[in-house]
Amino acid sequence: MTPADDLLDIATEIAREAGALAHRRRAEGVTIAATKSALADIVTDADREVEDLIRARLSAARPADGFLGEESGAGQREAEITWVVDPIDGTVNYAYGQPAYAVSIAAVAGDPDPESWTALAGVVYCPPTGELFRAARGSGAWLGDRRLQVNADAGPAGALIGTGFGYDPATHEGTLDQIRRVMPIARDLRRGGAASLDLASVAAGRLDAYYERGLQPWDHAAGALLVREAGGVVSGSPGGRPGRRMTIAAAPGLFERLSALLDD
Ligand code: IPD
Repeated sequence: MTPADDLLDIATEIAREAGALAHRRRAEGVTIAATKSALADIVTDADREVEDLIRARLSAARPADGFLGEESGAGQREAEITWVVDPIDGTVNYAYGQPAYAVSIAAVAGDPDPESWTALAGVVYCPPTGELFRAARGSGAWLGDRRLQVNADAGPAGALIGTGFGYDPATHEGTLDQIRRVMPIARDLRRGGAASLDLASVAAGRLDAYYERGLQPWDHAAGALLVREAGGVVSGSPGGRPGRRMTIAAAPGLFERLSALLDD
């Protein structure tokens, strides 16, 4: 067992417990507790409760580690290992009872600059489907006992491409322009609503590629590791290609073509 495998075991156990709580809270009925930067940028009571649970479990298991969570922000910034957590990624789906939401937990080394982090272990757990995607650095990406591999470049046949829309109204024109640019090489586009699951889908070959501008570290720290361990390339994420704000994830050839189309 490598140290990354140990971190993965901890993340897996906590993600399952956190996912069960999210699932239970969803069944009880969820209320939107606050709208943050935009109408689509919401937080529910369950997001906070689930993050509190994950934080408590991590601090019991690994008291010296740092923490960066979507709802509660950062704690203990000088740690060797930092846990980067989105308690419920896809909160809008979750609030509306759509099944595409996930608990995303990653352990990263290096602090404090997200650009220079190295993701060591990552878990993306979707409670409604029971699917738990996991990766440890150097040990591959897995769904159950199936080792994941990104699709080869789809070439002229066209790629199934996932994307997400930034919340900031100032980016909306740019979003539409990006769609115009990628449509000629796309078989079709998808907007799934949970970045961690979009990245897991690229790793699992359910999407050929995914791109989105302006993701936060907790949206993609675990998912980007899944893609890299499944043989793909990722930009704009911890440990990804430096110098890009745009997250692009795909097999190497398709990554280059999308990069040229979507250059920042
Ligand atoms: C959001 C989702 C969405 C993406 C946004 C993210 P949240 O995360 O991943 O798909 O388009 O950029 O912020 O707010 O639901 O945790």
